[in-house]
Amino acid sequence: MKKILNIAHRGFSGIYPENTMLAFEKAVEVQCDGIETDVQLTKDGVAVICHDETLERSTDGSGFIKNYTYLELSKLDAGIKKDHKFSGCRIPTLDEFLDYIKDKNMLINLELKNSIIQYENIEEVVIDKVYKYGIQANCIISSFNHYSMVKCKELDNSIKTGLLYDEILYHPEKYIKYVGADALHPNFQAVYSKEIVENIKSKNIDINVYTVNEEEDMINMISLGVDGIITNYPDRLKDILLRTNI
Ligand code: G3P
Ligand code: MG
Repeated sequence: MKKILNIAHRGFSGIYPENTMLAFEKAVEVQCDGIETDVQLTKDGVAVICHDETLERSTDGSGFIKNYTYLELSKLDAGIKKDHKFSGCRIPTLDEFLDYIKDKNMLINLELKNSIIQYENIEEVVIDKVYKYGIQANCIISSFNHYSMVKCKELDNSIKTGLLYDEILYHPEKYIKYVGADALHPNFQAVYSKEIVENIKSKNIDINVYTVNEEEDMINMISLGVDGIITNYPDRLKDILLRTNI
């Protein structure tokens, strides 16, 4: 049976402040297979790691990332909202993350956050970094914006892309061919039957589901035969994968 990939969502974000170097280091420590993270652009065009377009939820700042320079953002605390004991964590740059992860032999899933804000040239910026750190073979770029995934392929056909979606699509194995992407990254609730996964797998398409945090859902996704599971709790998933001998 093919190994199911254990992919840490925003790093080990169940316990540590999401999308911080601490969360990435802790994900590496639990020896998961990959890390998913979110990329936004600052006012001065620096690629930074943050889930929301705005700063309030995960940092002590406020307003839109796109309205700040990186220097301004670098002063914010990205740990304190999770817990006071994590105070001092910063918003990482994409460079910082890739420099750390490049030689860890892990899947690197870079999600472009360009559904709400159309960051100019985010595709070019991120693909340049993929080459700068030599991670082409281990990297998949994903987005809810499928026009952006088409653009990535136009820029570089060898870059792997993943289509994020929340709703139940009708025959996603057909849609992905139309878009020209490599993998499907659905919300796990959009994958509710064996038939959906079988149709996808019959076309040799990879399917990585997000965000699966409960044990029962992890077991269900494993039994459906997905390729990867994106989770806030890579420790929990690791135990289940060991128990289920996968
Ligand atoms: O890439 C999987 C997942 O992260 C997509 O949703 O909102 O958590 O970035 P979100
Ligand atoms: Mg994400």
